[in-house]
Amino acid sequence: MLLGITGGIASYKSAWLARLLTQAGAEVDVVMTVAASQFVGPITFEALTGRPAHLGLFDPGHALEHIRLAREAHAFVVAPATADFLARASTGQADDLLSAALLATTAPVLLVPAMNDRMWANGQVQRNVAHLRELGHTVLEPDEGNLAVGEGHGPGRMPEPEALLSHVGRLLEEHRDLAGRHVLVTAGPTQEPLDPVRYISNHSSGKMGVAIAAAAWRRGAHVTLIAGPLAVPVPVGARVLHVATTEEMLAAVTRELPASHVLVMAAAPADFRATSVADQKMKKGAAAPVVALEHTPDILKSTKPARAPGTVVVGFALETERVLENAAGKLAAKELDMIVVNDATEAGAGFGHDTNRVALVRRSGDPEQLPLMPKTEVADAILDRVALILQEKAP
Ligand SMILES: Cc1cc2nc3c(=O)[nH]c(=O)nc-3n(C[C@H](O)[C@H](O)[C@H](O)COP(=O)(O)O)c2cc1C
Repeated sequence: MLLGITGGIASYKSAWLARLLTQAGAEVDVVMTVAASQFVGPITFEALTGRPAHLGLFDPGHALEHIRLAREAHAFVVAPATADFLARASTGQADDLLSAALLATTAPVLLVPAMNDRMWANGQVQRNVAHLRELGHTVLEPDEGNLAVGEGHGPGRMPEPEALLSHVGRLLEEHRDLAGRHVLVTAGPTQEPLDPVRYISNHSSGKMGVAIAAAAWRRGAHVTLIAGPLAVPVPVGARVLHVATTEEMLAAVTRELPASHVLVMAAAPADFRATSVADQKMKKGAAAPVVALEHTPDILKSTKPARAPGTVVVGFALETERVLENAAGKLAAKELDMIVVNDATEAGAGFGHDTNRVALVRRSGDPEQLPLMPKTEVADAILDRVALILQEKAP
């Protein structure tokens, strides 16, 4: 891939991005503007990518380099993209190696603007961005946060390299089979308060739901993640709605579901809550308190009326006995299209692990037992089936 670097202060982060991309297996050709080389030296990128960094359009021995680099790139990423570069790209100028290569490429293009917040708000910059989007390039919104020293806080920061790596993944994704689809995912546990400081919860980390949200976004979907308290970072690209209790999760799912094509209920909502929550912290006292419990609402069952026709609904089940039989019962009772079954007694699977071994049970056909694999791959396996079911259910 081609990684263009222009003369913004955020170019210090581009060295880390070049490293992440190289570690992920990409062959990274760095092309820098002359201004960029004032901030970070080409030798840094050469050492990180193992390939020469390119600078000049007229460097001896490199005639037609702009055409070769443009042709060989499978993805063309410019991070950071200065206001100056956006202006050149928007008007089709080609007076430096990077701008000329951009005109000559047919690869998908990702531009990552980074600048002072007032520069970003400038009407001319915004017009250039809008025009570049019209041309079919992906132009990211900058993050909000601390800008260069003394410049305060505002929109203009370059997103962190780890997030950019996810954006490059989406740019390169071959299975854009969820493009334009709205995918609603729930993840994590919920917490049911006992008193102002204590709660009932479970060991769910949210890893599986977060992996599904990340994979759906990479495959082109608009993703909303309804997240209980997660033990892992939220995924790039998803709109995240934070909830605490099962009741709150139910309310969020009910609100979001009518506009969704797919619901994947990967969360592990608490099944029980206290019949009454103490106003004050329960005292240790002499006698231990006895807490009466009641069922929380069953989210999947309760949302049946909110499902639009054709919505694909996927549930999860964690079983410890008669695993497939119990799962088939849930599939029917909750009117699901597919249920993903974990066997809680299986080593390396379930809560907190990075791997999972699941069976996929659909309304027809035999259950599919998948091998133990990373949750990121389980996520794609689930979405492969979801994409098929969406097609089957299409009117
Ligand atoms: C210290 C310093 C920091 C700069 N940071 C930015 C920046 O973050 N974003 C930006 O658009 N321009 C920034 N500039 C201005 C650009 O370097 C300048 O517009 C230059 O012409 C960009 O050239 P290029 O687009 O060919 O790399 C900065 C300039 C200086 C001196």
